Formats: sequence, C-alpha cells, structure tokens
Amino acid sequence: MQKRVDFLVVGSGIAGLSYALEVAAYGKVCIVTKSTADDTATRYAQGGIATVMYTPDSYEKHIRDTLIAGDDLCNEAIVRMTVMESSDRIKQLISMGVNFDKTPAGLFDLSKEGGHSEYRVLHHKDQTGAEIEKVLLEHIRIHPNITVLENHFTIDVITQHHLGEYVDRKTDDIQCFGAYVLDKSTNDIITILAKSTMIATGGAGNAYSVTTNPGIATGDGIAMVYRAKGTVENMEFIQFHPTSLFNANEKPAFLITEALRGSGAVLKDRKGNTFMEKYDDRKSLAPRDIVARAIDNELKLSGEDFLFLDARHLGKEILLSHFPGVYAKCLSIGIDITKEMIPVAPAAHYLCGGVKVDEFGKTSILNLYASGECASTGMHGANRLASNSLLESLVFSHRSALDTLSKFEKIEFVEGIPDWNAEGTVLNEEMVLITQTLKELQSIMTSYVGIVRSNLRLKRAADRLNIIFDETEELFDKSVLTEKICELRNLINVSWMIIRWAQQRTESRGLHYNIDCLRTTRKKLFFDS
Ligand code: SIN
Repeated sequence: MQKRVDFLVVGSGIAGLSYALEVAAYGKVCIVTKSTADDTATRYAQGGIATVMYTPDSYEKHIRDTLIAGDDLCNEAIVRMTVMESSDRIKQLISMGVNFDKTPAGLFDLSKEGGHSEYRVLHHKDQTGAEIEKVLLEHIRIHPNITVLENHFTIDVITQHHLGEYVDRKTDDIQCFGAYVLDKSTNDIITILAKSTMIATGGAGNAYSVTTNPGIATGDGIAMVYRAKGTVENMEFIQFHPTSLFNANEKPAFLITEALRGSGAVLKDRKGNTFMEKYDDRKSLAPRDIVARAIDNELKLSGEDFLFLDARHLGKEILLSHFPGVYAKCLSIGIDITKEMIPVAPAAHYLCGGVKVDEFGKTSILNLYASGECASTGMHGANRLASNSLLESLVFSHRSALDTLSKFEKIEFVEGIPDWNAEGTVLNEEMVLITQTLKELQSIMTSYVGIVRSNLRLKRAADRLNIIFDETEELFDKSVLTEKICELRNLINVSWMIIRWAQQRTESRGLHYNIDCLRTTRKKLFFDS
C-alpha cells in the first residue's frame, strides 16, 4: 500500500509534535509512532526545561554553564543560538497552555540542577515532560491537517537506493522520499511518500540493562539514518543519570530528579556520610558525568549496588508539593522519603550524539530532518547540561519547520518506489532468539561500555557484538518483520556505533571516561578569568 503526505514525522515526543504543529498550517502531516502517541521519553522528563527568566541570571551564564558541562565539545555558536532563541519557544509553549509552576508572588518558580550556576529550570511539579506532552497532544488531536498513526513502526527511510541506485557515505546528494512503515496490527508494510521527513525518535537507553528511558527508546531513527548512509556523530557520549531509584529489575528505572538535589538533597553512603566533597567542589550538584563517576567509584569500592539520596531535611511540605511523583513512587515500594533515605544508582539516561544536523535540523540527507535526542546539534558536546534537551528540541524543531516551509512546495513526489520486498521471509516462531540476544547485548554494553571504560573492555565488547550482529542480520533477512526484530537490530546497530566511536576517541572527555586514556585538559574558555 502506498500513501502520500506533505510532511512525514516519525516520533511523537516534544520534537516531533512541535514540528508537526508548525508545518501543519501548510500541508498534510502524518505522524507515525510505534506505540501510543504519549509513550515517549518526553513524558518521563521530570526536572524541567532550562531557560533564562530573571536577573541575576543571564544568557551568558546559561551559555557558559552549557559549555562547561559539554567539556569543550559543544559548538559554541549553536549553544548561543539555542539558549537565546529558547525564550520565544517557551513563550509559545506557555501560550499553548503549558502550565509551569509559579510562586505565591506570581513569578515562575525556578529550580536548579547539577552544573547550573543559577535557578533557571521551569517545571510542572516533578512531571514537566508529561505536562508538555499532554498539551501538545491536545493541539495535535484537533488539528484537521494532522493524522497520527499509532502502533506503526518505521522500518527504514526511503532514498534513491530503493530505486536501484548505488549510494554510499560519500554520495553527496542522497535524498529522502519517505519511509517504509509496519502496521503492527495487520503486519502490512506501507510505503509513505513525503516531501519532507522529520526523524524524532528519541534515544537508545535500552542498549543498557538499567535505563530511565521507556521501552520505546531503541535507537530506531539513528540506526535507520546510518543505514541510509547519513552522517552520525558523537555516539560515545552516553549520559548516565546519577540517581535512578534502586529497585531491582524495574523497567524503566524510576528517575529521582536532579531538582531534588537542586533543592538541597545530599548524596550519602550507607552509614550516612557524605562523599561528593572528595570528587568536586560542587559536591552533589556537580555536572552529571562527575557525579555518576563518583557514585560508580564508591560502589566499586564498597561492592554495593546502591548509595543513598537524603532528602529528609527538606521537610514534608516541600517534598509533597514539589516532588509528589517521587514521593508517591517511593512510598509505593515502602520508602517514606520524609523519614528515610532513598536508595539510588546510576542508569543510562541520555544519548548526547546522534544524527548530525546543521542549525536548521537538516541531516546530511536531503529533505530529511532530525530533532530531539536522536539528533546531534552541537548543543551538548561531551556531556549534556541537565534540562537542556527539551529546549533544544523546541528550537531545532522550529528551525526545521522554517526550513521545510521555505522549500517544500518545489519538491515533487518521486515515482517508481517499489513496495517493501518481503520475498523469501518466514515467520520467526522462536522469540527466544530475540529476547536472549537483547539480554546479551544489554549485558555487554553495561559491563564493558558503561560509565568507566578501558581499551580491553571496549575490545571485548566489539568482539562479542560482532557475533550477535552477524546472527541478527541473518535472522532479520529471513524473518517476516516484527517490531521486536527491528528494534533489536536497531539497538545492535547503535551499540556498534557507540563502541566504534568510543574506540576511536583517544582521550577521556566528558561522558567518555577510559582508564587507558589521559583526560584531555580543558582548554581555557573565554569566560575563565
Ligand atoms: C532530571 O529531572 O533529573 C532529568 C532532567 C534531565 O535529564 O534533563
């Protein structure tokens, strides 16, 4: 079956929805999402959205904090542009009905997170992402030009390769014509042709055994762009959130928002002693890479599985009014955070690299955009500053929409794209081939490509990954496609990139810490005095 739309959007988090709403005034939009529309990483974002609101904060301070966290690998021009344009994007969100918390005096109630020198994080209690997702979806649902295909899995983007032309990574005019999409309810594969395609599929936390990401975060967009010979970068920079709730085998791991530390909660060991002062002057509020590494080291020294976050001294009123989600979740497993410390451990949380895009969200493939966690814009460098991702999505989806609208009328639909070729495939009746391989993959990535790496660990990971890569490609080629085999293949593709990029980096920097590589001294930045 073939379908034509002006704008195809893959993914239904903040990046995909905000892009869709902007282009929808000019043509038909189809949003494809592999689960229900609200099953996205956006919904899980607790802490909030960083933006400069009041003095003494300033754009320069926000830019500086972002560059410091990014450990010299941010693109300063992109950081500057994103920070300065974020105010307009956030005003737009507020005008659409997003409700950020205010103080009794009517000012926005700003919180603080690791690496921020000022209070600048707008939030809706500890459920900011859920509030944004809800409001955007309300607008999407009533828009006459937008169709949402839920439970549809995007397999691959379509390029001239599907017309029989040879393309490789050196081809400079690869074009995107749309995507092949699996309807999960019928198993039909639909060809969706589009003038422009936006990839907004989120991250790949499920490459690891413990992640704060929802199950949908399987690196689909990055893997499909890479297979289409698009450019991907910075894949070695995996951010581990220092404080996920330690609750063995819970998936996803429940996030204990960094805003809790911003409000004064302190990391402690089992005996109730603080330890962060051994690692950084900013203690529990140092940037995430430093805090996660410190916790990893403490756990390796003690042999334990978790440490504690002590929020008791904040008092019941603050905890219940500002952190009702954290309070309720902990209580549901028997921990009263007003009286007991919270057991925490790091969890894979955010992929700083991804599909390389320019300042308009354009990938290296014509008519293909990327925004959100799957994109690498230059904003995060080697380590993302907390709460900088929702604003990055808004700014880049807006800029992508502007670029799309400036050219889409001149783009013709391509003729002659064949339907997906499923010849010779059979139903795979052994799910264990997929589930066991996924467990192996997660175990390899967690043991060898985690917070602290070494050359030997990376080599072990690469050798083992090669085996499951070959086995899974063989299985993929002969199987009737299902979401699960496609997700596994995508996670393997993305993990291969993470390992390869990690092996190529010969320094320890930001989130990539290799005990065999010296830490590169940060160059003196313009603001160091
Ligand atoms: C948090 O609330 O700690 C997460 C915020 C983020 O990852 O930006």
